Amino acid sequence: MRMLVGTNTKMNLTSSQTTAYCETLRRLTADVEHCEVFVLPPYTSIWAARDQLAGSHVGWGAQDVHVNDEGPHTGEVSAPMLADLGCRYVAVGHSERRRQRGETDELVATKTRQVLRFGMSPIICVGEPVQMAPYDAAAFVSAQVTTALRDTPRSERHGVIVAYEPEWAIGAGAQPAEPGYVDVVHRAIANAVGSDTEDGSTVRVIYGGSVDLTTAHALLERHSVQGLFVGRYALDPRAFAEVIGMVDREARDRATARGSAEPPV
Ligand code: PGA
Repeated sequence: MRMLVGTNTKMNLTSSQTTAYCETLRRLTADVEHCEVFVLPPYTSIWAARDQLAGSHVGWGAQDVHVNDEGPHTGEVSAPMLADLGCRYVAVGHSERRRQRGETDELVATKTRQVLRFGMSPIICVGEPVQMAPYDAAAFVSAQVTTALRDTPRSERHGVIVAYEPEWAIGAGAQPAEPGYVDVVHRAIANAVGSDTEDGSTVRVIYGGSVDLTTAHALLERHSVQGLFVGRYALDPRAFAEVIGMVDREARDRATARGSAEPPV
């Protein structure tokens, strides 16, 4: 099970800026060997990410998707369109969409199915709206994940990623959740999704919310954190590359500790 590190650039980076961003990122991550890396640019920039990142260690994907394959849905983008652009990942249920667009866990469940149907990995974003006792947060988030996966039997969860992103820890001025708090919630998520799917692959649980180089270090000490989802800190590709380097080293160390030489990417 490979560790992951990715960024959602949100409504930032034109296609020209994405080209420059990905060109730099590709160069700076040429040595990455042990973890999976991804970038989720806006829809209009996915082709630019593809052009720069094809053949590299860095995958690309989208920040959202519509539930239908095609049809009269002005302004929307479908899963087959994303698959056609080589997307490997699609975020569903980001807290900004839940808050700004009223997306529900039920809608997230449908989007999750749709992403899997087209052979891509859904990144199911969950998180409690306000800080609470860790076990309450764990219960809240487990319920979100259970609903989001209610249409996806365990045997079909290959490639599913859950991103734990407490809403109160996201965005300018926020602080990330304490590693101990994150650990409690991540263990609960692993329990709720069934950490081992029937084909032996595992649903991975990553953390997002005000991740930077300093906070990444403390979070990665918890083995329930199987990767990081970075927002504004990653808008500088050099800063993001440093976080990627840290995750890559951690992935190598965990593999060594398990005594299993994970095959390089
Ligand atoms: P942030 O965003 O790192 O800027 O807090 C995280 C996210 O929304 O994924």
